[in-house]
This record gives sequence, C-alpha cells and structure tokens, in this order.
Amino acid sequence: MSAAKITVAKKAIGHIEKKLDRNMVLGIGTGSTVNFFIEELAKFKNLFKGAVSSSEASTKLLQDIGIEVFNLNDVNEVSYYIDGADEVSPENFLIKGGGGAHTREKIVAAASTSFICIVDSSKLVDQLGLFPLPIEVIPESRSMVARKIIELGGLPEYRSGFITDQGNQIIDVKNLIIKDPKELESYLNNIPGVVENGIFSFNKPDLVLTET
Ligand code: 5RP
Repeated sequence: MSAAKITVAKKAIGHIEKKLDRNMVLGIGTGSTVNFFIEELAKFKNLFKGAVSSSEASTKLLQDIGIEVFNLNDVNEVSYYIDGADEVSPENFLIKGGGGAHTREKIVAAASTSFICIVDSSKLVDQLGLFPLPIEVIPESRSMVARKIIELGGLPEYRSGFITDQGNQIIDVKNLIIKDPKELESYLNNIPGVVENGIFSFNKPDLVLTET
C-alpha cells in the first residue's frame, strides 16, 4: 500500500512541478498519502511561496522541512489543493475525514483553483458508503445528531478519544446508502450541531490520480 501511495504522490509532483512559481501558494491536505507528497515536495520548496495547511499535523510536517505555512485568511489565491481520500466514486465524489481533518480540508478545497486528489486504487468504489462517514459535531450536540442519523438508517459510532483541530468530536456513520451524495451532504450539514460531514460532492476534485 505504501508503494502505491508513494507512486501517486510522485505523480502529483510531476503534475504541478512545471507550473510552480515563486508567488504560488499550495493547499495541503492530511493523511499518509499526503505525508509522502510533502516528503517529495521538500525538493521543490524554493520554487513556490508556501502552503496553506488543512491540519496541525500537516502544518508541522511542512514547517519541519522549511515550507512556510500561511493562514488561509492571509492568502489571495491557492493554486492547487492536493489531498487524499477514503473513497472516490466514478463521478469523483469523495468520502474524507478518516483522519478527522475533513472540515478544514473542505474549506481549503473550496478556496483552491484546482483540487488534485491522490489515492491508491483501493479507494475507488462504485458507490460511496462502505467507509464509515465521518461527521464533525459540536460536543454538546453529539447524542442529538446521533439520533437523527439513526432515523436515517445509519449506525453512528462516537470516535472515542479523538478531538478535532477545532476542538470538536467525530461521529463515524456506518450503513448509509449514499445514492445521492449532494442531497445527503446538504441534509447532514443542516442538522444543528453538525460542523461538517465528510462527503465532498460540491467540492469534488478536478483531477483524481492513482498509482496505475
Ligand atoms: C483525512 C483524510 C484523508 O485524506 C483520508 O483519510 C485518506 O488518508 P490516507 O492517505 O492516510 O489513506 O480525509 O481527514
């Protein structure tokens, strides 16, 4: 699996390498595939201005290799957003949030000109939903949101011992049949207390790269 992740990380570098310039800010996702991408990116760090990061974990990795990390509020343009995913549908809709960072990931994806998703081919699925759908919730709303999810036919499980970078909690939902990702993404985000769910249908990638 690591070999596939390294291959796709290098492919993404190949895709952006010639387009880098000294004013360019890149958006960087979170996860093991992105970690390989960050490692590769180190060789090109003098060819672009810096990065906007989707998590504290990626921020640390970027800073450790000498890439400047900017707050999204201080950046006018994010040229490319590079991130992994937990599932990718044939329409390039995603489930993300296995690492619990999907809220900031979706914000940076939405702020970027082009979203490049890097996955090993085991993430490609015919229909989203086998991977438990992560939902970030305000802690006080967790039980109420879980009850609404049960009404939908989902099986919610509290991600015990995990706090997001924003200080919230995660509910992972099994058993959801995601026939209409846009409808479910909107519905879930409309439940009070839900900060963000891991369906990326409105902010789907422009390009999905795999190792093959
Ligand atoms: C983190 C994510 C990751 O992109 C997703 O979990 C994939 O991770 P990995 O590259 O480790 O398989 O959404 O919130």
